[in-house]
Amino acid sequence: MRVLGLETSCDDTGVAVFDSEHGLLAHKLYSQSQMHAEYGGVVPELASRDHIRKLLPLVREVLAEAAIAPSLARGPRLDPIGDAGTASGEIDGVAYTMGPGLAGALLVGASIGRSLAYAWGIPAVGVHHMEGHLLAPMLEPDAPAFPFLALLVSGGHTLLTDVRAVGDYRLLGESVDDAVGEAFDKTAKLLGLGYPGGPAIAAAAAHGTPGRFRFPRPMTDRPGLDFSFSGLKTAALTAAQQHMLDARTIGDIAFAFQEAAIDTLVIKCARALEQTGHTRLVIAGGVGANSLLRARLRELGGNSNVHVHYPRPAFCTDNGAMIAYAGSLRLRAGVEEGMAFSARARWNLMDLTTP
Ligand code: KG4
Ligand code: ZN
Repeated sequence: MRVLGLETSCDDTGVAVFDSEHGLLAHKLYSQSQMHAEYGGVVPELASRDHIRKLLPLVREVLAEAAIAPSLARGPRLDPIGDAGTASGEIDGVAYTMGPGLAGALLVGASIGRSLAYAWGIPAVGVHHMEGHLLAPMLEPDAPAFPFLALLVSGGHTLLTDVRAVGDYRLLGESVDDAVGEAFDKTAKLLGLGYPGGPAIAAAAAHGTPGRFRFPRPMTDRPGLDFSFSGLKTAALTAAQQHMLDARTIGDIAFAFQEAAIDTLVIKCARALEQTGHTRLVIAGGVGANSLLRARLRELGGNSNVHVHYPRPAFCTDNGAMIAYAGSLRLRAGVEEGMAFSARARWNLMDLTTP
């Protein structure tokens, strides 16, 4: 089954074609981050408008790259995107991110995805964005087998989840305040490092002096698997207010912040592995692209005989491939939306069920 996947939940327009027999055929991403950088964060209305501008051209490019001309034979004779390619082949289903995310941005992907599926006479399915992230490591050669422990770390979520099967997720811990990616973004902003904050903090930290600042590892001194990152952000703010913010101090604060945030995640992963007895750990979501986190968790895995899986950095951050893949699993199981489409700005991952 060949599935076209559309991701528009935030500030990245992602499109991909996944084939259940041949794997990923094509994927492309258009990042709006430069546009939002001017405002220091994502401006929802601008994000929606830009998805409208970019989504169909990107679909056209991805279909051409996958050498696919969508078959119109089975559906109403409409061709909403014009001649999309020349080679034979077809798309069997469309998957779009239905939530959680920015309502307007989600609606662009949902309405275009639903419309393409209608025009092509094929089924459409709405995908949970975090399930997409969670299953992204399945696109890699070293795909994890079920069950496993998953650490989901993005701009909106910090979750530790027991994953028994697709759709069978049990929450072990989550952030009680800011998501870890959000803490990276806010700290970068207060240091004047721009948006998105994660890569900016990591780059500044590379020039930081170890030991000049030390920030707390929140909630690691008590039992449990929940996280809290707002205090860490405040510690960085206090340090920034008490010192002249020259390049050296910015690097030093970024270094201490990154160390504390990553340490906290690693400590909780170690604890969750111990509690659950899992021998496989999956890391996914934008913060999963952080090289310090990847290195530290690899080290943890090496020391405890746990196989650590993560997607390539481009599939840690938002992308269409993970949506095409997650959608293909549900479409193959016969799940599909009706003719109406909707978006869910808030949607709990634990509410999903096995297709
Ligand atoms: O998964 P994602 O692309 O979008 C959401 O679903 O939120 O995650 C974006 C988040 C942002 O907070 C960004 O700053 C963070 O992931 N991020 C990173 C890195 N790359 C992206 N955080 C730390 N280190 C990175 N290298
Ligand atoms: Zn995401």
